Amino acid sequence: MERSTSGPTTTSTAKQSVAIHRQRRVWEARARNWNHHASNNEGLRTVVAAVVDTATSGLADGESLGTVVDLGCGSGQLTLALAKRATKVLGVDVSGSMLRELEQRAAAEGITNVECLVSPIERLSLPPGSVDVVVSNYALHHLRDPDKGVAVAAAAGWLRPGGRLVIGDMMLGRGADAADRAVIADKVRQLARRGPGGWWRVAKNAVRFVVRIQERPLSRSAWVALVQRSGFVDVQASAVVHEAAVVSAVRAGGPTTEARPADAVPTTEAKSTEDGANTSA
Ligand SMILES: C[S@@+](CC[C@H](N)C(=O)[O-])C[C@H]1O[C@@H](n2cnc3c(N)ncnc32)[C@H](O)[C@@H]1O
Repeated sequence: MERSTSGPTTTSTAKQSVAIHRQRRVWEARARNWNHHASNNEGLRTVVAAVVDTATSGLADGESLGTVVDLGCGSGQLTLALAKRATKVLGVDVSGSMLRELEQRAAAEGITNVECLVSPIERLSLPPGSVDVVVSNYALHHLRDPDKGVAVAAAAGWLRPGGRLVIGDMMLGRGADAADRAVIADKVRQLARRGPGGWWRVAKNAVRFVVRIQERPLSRSAWVALVQRSGFVDVQASAVVHEAAVVSAVRAGGPTTEARPADAVPTTEAKSTEDGANTSA
């Protein structure tokens, strides 16, 4: 697949560069331990499974997903699961160390249809209509809000008509609605039960949440609106566990696509696990 990572974007600003630099630094430092953390976190495993189920739903036995792109793939929790159902998966991540972990895991499992590309999602450029499925798990909440919009609009361009977008992520607003407040209260209660260490994490996460330096989640309804604005149809959202949800949508223009209003989206209640789907240290 031809690609370039250097195309100019309207949000190629100094703030964007600072945000990318920060993400690279944080995740380079966490790459060695991420796989252990992710594979032992029940919440994260549940979200990965939900993204895989959504991406493969409707696929007949033996049918391939085609070409898949995994944005912010990390060490490959989603990439490797989908590679078994795809012709090829392109894993994109800002951290080269994460991708080296992914390559080692793929080699250990004998998986040969995974390609890796070190690139910020914000600056990824792929040929129009060259991709069947774009997925992402717990990565897009790290992007600045304008860059989330740019990334989703870009994904609409890379996808063929009828291609699918599936995003699993922390989807939580800052307490504006009752659902957000319930998740926040649940999270604080869980951490508080762990004693002083838990309270320390409450304080640390509260600062991050307010300042939005490292984690910049949007609510589920904001994600639905953003995806709809980018030319997707059949937008569906479901809660998975605690703050995590999956939003899926279809690139307009395919044979079986039809518009579905966001408020007609069926939504399931999130399950609760002790781990939640927390990615913070
Ligand atoms: C919480 S981890 C999730 C990794 C993987 N998707 C998973 O499910 O285990 C977030 C990943 O997003 C990547 N990431 C963060 N910001 C990024 C950006 N702007 N562009 C590309 N990757 C980014 C990090 O390097 C990291 O691998």
